Amino acid sequence: MTYLITGGAGFIGSNFIFHMLEAHPEDRIVCVDKLTYAGNLATLEPVLDNPRFRFVRMDICDREAVMALFREEKPEVVVNFAAESHVDRSIENPGVFLETNILGTGVLMDASRAAGVARYHQVSTDEVYGDLPLDRPDLFFTEETPLHTSSPYSSSKAAADLLALSYHRTFGLPVTISRCSNNYGPYQFPEKLIPLMISNCLHDRPLPVYGEGLNVRDWLYVEDHCIAIDRILQDGRVGQVYNVGGHNEMRNIDIVRLICRELGKPVSLITYVTDRKGHDMRYAIDPAKIHAELGWLPQTRFADGIVATIHWYLEHRDWWESILSGAYRETNEALSVRV
Ligand SMILES: NC(=O)c1ccc[n+]([C@@H]2O[C@H](COP(=O)([O-])OP(=O)(O)OC[C@H]3O[C@@H](n4cnc5c(N)ncnc54)[C@H](O)[C@@H]3O)[C@@H](O)[C@H]2O)c1
Repeated sequence: MTYLITGGAGFIGSNFIFHMLEAHPEDRIVCVDKLTYAGNLATLEPVLDNPRFRFVRMDICDREAVMALFREEKPEVVVNFAAESHVDRSIENPGVFLETNILGTGVLMDASRAAGVARYHQVSTDEVYGDLPLDRPDLFFTEETPLHTSSPYSSSKAAADLLALSYHRTFGLPVTISRCSNNYGPYQFPEKLIPLMISNCLHDRPLPVYGEGLNVRDWLYVEDHCIAIDRILQDGRVGQVYNVGGHNEMRNIDIVRLICRELGKPVSLITYVTDRKGHDMRYAIDPAKIHAELGWLPQTRFADGIVATIHWYLEHRDWWESILSGAYRETNEALSVRV
């Protein structure tokens, strides 16, 4: 069986590739990634020579190239992680979010239709539901919660979800969608909250926290997300949405304080900065559906996962320092030539 996985040089996609190569030793993976600023091919270096793995540098918006690759590889399963994923960047420059996240998804689904894939899986986000008030801890996002987006990022992801569901209904494309809460773990680009705070701490730089840091996110260890997508691919029902996450809610400020404590740095490094425009207050997933249908629940408690993550960044300083210095771009060029 051949899986075509897009965005595999990014955070979650790379973790998913490692998971799938190990969990499915009979299967092959073709990874498609444009290597934008968020793609780091050094992450995939350990598997570049694996005969069950192929890396293709390609923009998912490049219709002709994508169609040709699907004709050549004939994938049975497509998992689309490729996206512009940073909310702040979507506020600065929405255009590229519409191109990759919406048009790119459309191209992949057209290619999937033409190739007659057995499954097209769209990796989405709980941000499509908007946010919940802080004073209603009893409320959670279910798959029935109306889409109510706040940022150009979440709007582009919601548009892609609707497009995917329409391809299922109109063309019979065997689509599944997962909407996951905030991920953390190894190989996350150091512009996102947790790796940003760890790397700034280790450089004794200020730790910029939006507003008062009271925003709540439902944190999921990336390996748990990978297992959830694998379960959906194996036994999920086509045409269905599955929420992924659950009951690991943390306030941003508490995470930053925890990182300071774990790294032995003073909380005086924390600086409060003007809040993000349209900043969502609370996300919280109800995972009842994926638990009941597929037996999935998160396995890693936040208290354990965050310590493991901090230690991973301590032990892989070269990985994130090369991103901060920009050296990873040269590595991307060199490794792209090799594959
Ligand atoms: N990180 C989270 O907490 C989180 C939570 C829920 C859902 N998601 C979703 O999961 C997916 C992966 O997120 P991530 O955090 O790993 O993102 P990321 O930014 O780390 O990685 C994105 C990858 O996609 C590639 N890419 C971007 N545009 C492309 C294009 N046009 N063609 C081909 N490749 C392209 C990049 O080079 C990069 O390797 C996204 O769809 C995101 O919306 C992320």
